Amino acid sequence: MNTRFLDACWGKQVDRTPVWLMRQAGRYLPEYMAIRSKCTFLELCKTPELAAQVTLQPVDILGVDAAILFSDILTPVEPMGMALDFVPGPVFENPIRSMADVDRLRIPSMEEDVPYVLETIKILRRELAGRVPLIGFGGAPFTLACYMVEGKGSKDFALIKRMMYGAPDVYAALMEKITMMSMEYLNAQIKAGAQAIQIFDTWGGILSPSDYTAYVMPYTTKLINGLNRIQTPVIHFVKGSGAMLETVKLAGGDVMGLDWHVNLGRARDLLGPQMAVQGNLDPTVLYAPQKTIEAEVKRVLDENAGRPGFIFNLGHGILPTVPPENAKFMVECVHRLSQS
Ligand code: CP3
Repeated sequence: MNTRFLDACWGKQVDRTPVWLMRQAGRYLPEYMAIRSKCTFLELCKTPELAAQVTLQPVDILGVDAAILFSDILTPVEPMGMALDFVPGPVFENPIRSMADVDRLRIPSMEEDVPYVLETIKILRRELAGRVPLIGFGGAPFTLACYMVEGKGSKDFALIKRMMYGAPDVYAALMEKITMMSMEYLNAQIKAGAQAIQIFDTWGGILSPSDYTAYVMPYTTKLINGLNRIQTPVIHFVKGSGAMLETVKLAGGDVMGLDWHVNLGRARDLLGPQMAVQGNLDPTVLYAPQKTIEAEVKRVLDENAGRPGFIFNLGHGILPTVPPENAKFMVECVHRLSQS
């Protein structure tokens, strides 16, 4: 079994820097499109044999050091009572706008409401035995709340911010409910066999550090502290965290995920030797000629400067039009240039 990824999460020395890519299963792979052309994205998430199959594709094709469960951060939100569609971005038919809307949300029973997620994990642990570890994941409460209140992606997040500032009791009740749901959801993934958990806070960085501290941190911290993580490291990825790393560090996690707006070396100096980090190549570098990809991989490795507790990744998800051979080349560069 390749344990580089888990060893690095715990800050242990490794033979080569482990690498995986956020959103590594997806539309940039023709093998994914072949399966996806026969069903919708949600059907794919809800069919364990197919979800497992697309999870394994990047492990076989790219040679990454970890697999990540194929699902979506919004999968467990649907059984809270919110009709969900992907067009391809997520859309909720009835967004949350009032206390009555929050009161109507239910906390799903994971075994009954998302059995396909747990079954996918079980299949994957069998298929991955002796190969690479499996990462489970969920959205951070704030990022889930953004979609649930806005009803879809947003540019200015006016609706969630209006609720946060103008109806703080509704906001708090919603965040509390999402936090409880997420705790059960991620603990169910750990129980089913997920060997690490990544929490995606894609929109945490749209707030000022003081608003992050007041409106996001209490819930993320409660979630992380409520996970059975003695043997299961938690990666906390807040996109746009570069200007508030000390604050996000306080929210918790074993590994801090970094986007490309921050110098990795400076981030490590700030976070200290006890905190592992993951990141942080600009995803658009995968459009560059291979010599530029190699130089950029080297730059990120040099910024880390051999410190233990480092996992190579992109600073956000891989883009759907990236040539797969460039992703594969990037993985090879990380392994070759970091060999000890
Ligand atoms: O990393 C992986 O390979 C596992 C799969 C995964 C998906 N979504 C599959 C997906 C993961 C980890 C996610 C997380 C996710 N989903 C996040 C957090 C990470 C991030 O990118 O910021 C967010 C914000 C979502 C919500 C979401 N789902 C959006 C905004 C979209 C549309 C964007 C797009 O890429 O078009 C999705 C759809 C989605 N989730 C797809 C995939 C493969 C594309 C669906 C398709 O096949 O049509």
